[in-house]
Amino acid sequence: MSIHTARAVVAAMVRGTAARTRFAPIALSLLAFASTVHALPQLGSQAPIVIAHRGASGYMPEHTLAAYELAVKMGADYIEPDLQLTRDGHLVAMHDTSLARTTDVEAKLGPRNGNYNVSSYTLAEIKTLTVDIVPVSPNPGFVPVSQDAYRVPTFQEVIDVARGLSASSGREIGIYPEAKQADPVMEDKILQTLAANNLSGANKIYIQSFSADTIRSIQQKQTALGLDFDLFVLSTAPGALTLAQMADIATFADGVGGSISGTRGVSESFIQQAHGLGLLVHGYTFSKLGDAGIAEYDKFFNWGIDGVFSNNPDLAFAARDAFLVSELPEPGSSALAVLGLVAAGAVARRRRSQQRDAAGTSVAGLQGNAGCA
Ligand code: G3P
Ligand code: CA
Repeated sequence: MSIHTARAVVAAMVRGTAARTRFAPIALSLLAFASTVHALPQLGSQAPIVIAHRGASGYMPEHTLAAYELAVKMGADYIEPDLQLTRDGHLVAMHDTSLARTTDVEAKLGPRNGNYNVSSYTLAEIKTLTVDIVPVSPNPGFVPVSQDAYRVPTFQEVIDVARGLSASSGREIGIYPEAKQADPVMEDKILQTLAANNLSGANKIYIQSFSADTIRSIQQKQTALGLDFDLFVLSTAPGALTLAQMADIATFADGVGGSISGTRGVSESFIQQAHGLGLLVHGYTFSKLGDAGIAEYDKFFNWGIDGVFSNNPDLAFAARDAFLVSELPEPGSSALAVLGLVAAGAVARRRRSQQRDAAGTSVAGLQGNAGCA
């Protein structure tokens, strides 16, 4: 196998398709080797993650089961439910405080106390609504399998869908809930819901909030409960955070989720500073399409960003593939050539062993038949 083929196989592997090819062992060896000889700029040299921002919200109505389903189908590692509390205390996936922008609440229920806030309606009322916001790039060809795929989902329903998709896809789908209100009740309900589902720090869970106090409080509460979910503080202007503020965040959180927009957005130096404090950096929101989109992902991946909140998980996933493959050693690397020989030898030995086993099975079968005769 040439190194060019190996690079293609690794590309297929990171897309999850090479496992079905006979080259998978070589590809795995190459990737493992590559990561040892050429560290990625991400913290701990870990491949960056793709977070489906409000689901695959570039293609489907945001924060619907349909949007989460499509996100996973497109390869997203995590789905992101923003959370609001209903009048009767249920967590639902909704970005805005108000239901007006994304649902048909105005026509169906009318205002409550002069507003359309989630907190003004019961869950039963909200469940009568349809999320009817039209995404930037509608995807009418996709048929979700979830029941009520365009209703406002509860947090529990998001977890259930993630579980179902984990089972059907064969990989753990992460959940990245955001406490949209700095509200102790919401903190408690998020932790209670996760714990009631037997989820722990061993699972792919990140809890995020724009309120550092909320994340600090969640850290204290979860420690008291024996939980240890990874926590993120969000910032609309991460570049404005002082080193002292960053160092403080590092005492109770695992990372910073920063806007990638504006002059105070996530920069290469910010990422390096955060990594120096042991903090991960996830950036929001990646929404550019086509070549401009790929170029933007590539820039941030090369800067070392650890995760991207993307409205278009298919694009983010393709860009990550390309980034990981580009990070492999060049074909001229003598060390890689040695690895290729070692890997090829291992495959050849395995084949010979399988042939011997097959021959042995045949002989044993003949002998067995002879004994019966
Ligand atoms: O949570 C990261 C990102 O989603 C923050 O933006 O306003 O879409 O929740 P927003
Ligand atoms: Ca969010």
